Amino acid sequence: MRNEAMDDFVERVSEATDILRVVQGYVPLKRRGNRYWGCCPFHQEKTASFSVVPDKGFFYCFGCHAGGNAFKFISLIENISYFDAIKLQAEKLGIPLPERRRSPQEIAREREIKDLRKVNELARDFFHNCLTMTRMGETGKAYFAGRGIREETIEEFQLGYAPPAWDKLSTAFLKRGIKQEFLLASGLSAERKQGNGLYDRFRGRVIIPIADERGRVVGFGGRVLDDSTPKYLNTPETILFNKRKILFGLDRSHRAIQQEGRAIVVEGYMDAISVFDAGVHNVVASLGTSFTPEHAKKLLHYAPEICFCYDSDEAGQKATIRALSIVRDTGAVVRVIVVPDGKDPDEFIRRHGADAFRKLVDKALPLVEYRLRYVLSHVNYDTLDGKVRALHEMLPVLAGIREPAARMEYEKKLAQTLMLDEGLVRSEIRHYHGGTEQAASPARQPIRQAIVRQDTALQKAGRIVIRMAWQDAAVLVHLETIVPLEGIQSSAQREILTFFKTSMEQGRPVDEASAASLSDEAAAELSRALVEDLGGREEAEAYDDSLRVLRRAYLNALYAEHSRKANEYAQNGQHEACLQELNEVNKIKHEMDEW
Ligand code: UTP
Ligand code: MN
Repeated sequence: MRNEAMDDFVERVSEATDILRVVQGYVPLKRRGNRYWGCCPFHQEKTASFSVVPDKGFFYCFGCHAGGNAFKFISLIENISYFDAIKLQAEKLGIPLPERRRSPQEIAREREIKDLRKVNELARDFFHNCLTMTRMGETGKAYFAGRGIREETIEEFQLGYAPPAWDKLSTAFLKRGIKQEFLLASGLSAERKQGNGLYDRFRGRVIIPIADERGRVVGFGGRVLDDSTPKYLNTPETILFNKRKILFGLDRSHRAIQQEGRAIVVEGYMDAISVFDAGVHNVVASLGTSFTPEHAKKLLHYAPEICFCYDSDEAGQKATIRALSIVRDTGAVVRVIVVPDGKDPDEFIRRHGADAFRKLVDKALPLVEYRLRYVLSHVNYDTLDGKVRALHEMLPVLAGIREPAARMEYEKKLAQTLMLDEGLVRSEIRHYHGGTEQAASPARQPIRQAIVRQDTALQKAGRIVIRMAWQDAAVLVHLETIVPLEGIQSSAQREILTFFKTSMEQGRPVDEASAASLSDEAAAELSRALVEDLGGREEAEAYDDSLRVLRRAYLNALYAEHSRKANEYAQNGQHEACLQELNEVNKIKHEMDEW
């Protein structure tokens, strides 16, 4: 579906946007030649590997490979969608959003979301005022004070109190003209079973507002003041509140997470609040539900390391193990902070102070260490049976260590502890390794691992061709006579070139705005192609070299394919077919010598 007004709008915003000004609003830059350099805001670094090329309209980081146009930059740094980034920029430039015709359903849903946000906001203020400004609130204040929560913290997190009455909030909100359906849809009120009318979900509890990463209230947690159950009551699932995705505290912590390069994940609201209060700001809580892949993905957006700090009791340890297995596949660097003597982080801080907690953070164990400790304390490895179990529980973790030296170190340690032959441990791991690597599909490739994959001459050649094709679409026609697009080995590059080709065929211009439809990986590769230098060569020379590299790689692949077939036919006794394949192989070999 095309919408001219919208295309127009995006184009106007694009034209009026100066990437240099946008980036400089966040990152100090220094000029060198036609590029500007600074420290990358998307990963930890001390030397500047982040560059902006204003006349091309792109940024690219040679360290973490983040790259794209001005809107991509805004969307990454503000953590909003690409389109929201365009809108935000338009707002700054004073360009009005075109009226778009939306379906009645869309309009209704948008309005519902907006209204629910408003209701939640009002409720947050209601609870907060109730705590801080009313007499009823004294009980809540006393509770917080008893837990050592300071007034500043109450303000920072906008903590509140729900009075112990059946319908204070419902009645007050209905009186203000808030419709019953919104009170129900937001989960703040429920319908009375007998008679009609509403009653409040949260009663006689201290209230912790839960916000999304942009600080908009999406729900609440309410804690009882005594030992009654349930201890915590939360907003039910609503169109705004999805526990699998929400991480408590992320609205306050995402900048710190980005700066520190790691996120600390705790189990409870109070843990997150205490840890934050102790001056460790890169903390989130996963709200009682187990940690999900969605949570991991969200955090990896900000930092490569996830550090779990769960309760140290048996349940907490089990939860840690579960969480670890979830993040292992994401390519995150994982550590575990161990809180001594069965305590949760909140209790530990109350008892031993913020400094002691920060020391625990510094001593966080790498994933393997933690697993090793856990397995060794849970398995009786005096028996052969126990040894085998311990070994097998450690295999996935050990096989996941990428640096050979570190892996050998742990193999040795495990072998020694279990009193097993080191060679045996090693061969078991190799075995495990072979089994899983084949099974791993490209779709499951860890996010960060995919980003830092090797950069070969072949990939560089692909980028040079992409850069030329971006400037002049005719290059594609020439390229295809030498290497068909299916023969381009990098999937990101293939995606880009195919996109160029379809655009050309449909008579669409290729520009930053249309390139927004590319996958993240392809978009990053494209920006890299546009800012990378040519290694001192002239463009024409670089282009010729690159075609040669691509053609050779293509021939190599063909050669392997035909040889494989020839072999197969030979095995099956299909001599005619085999000869034909060998003939092909020969031709290719000849050509390879020429290139
Ligand atoms: P915990 O039972 O560990 O509570 O539950 P806590 O964080 O230590 O709470 P305090 O210190 O006693 O106040 C961890 C998290 O699990 C969820 C909450 O999000 C809680 O913070 N939970 C727990 C519930 O949702 N409902 C419950 O009844 C209990
Ligand atoms: Mn606790």
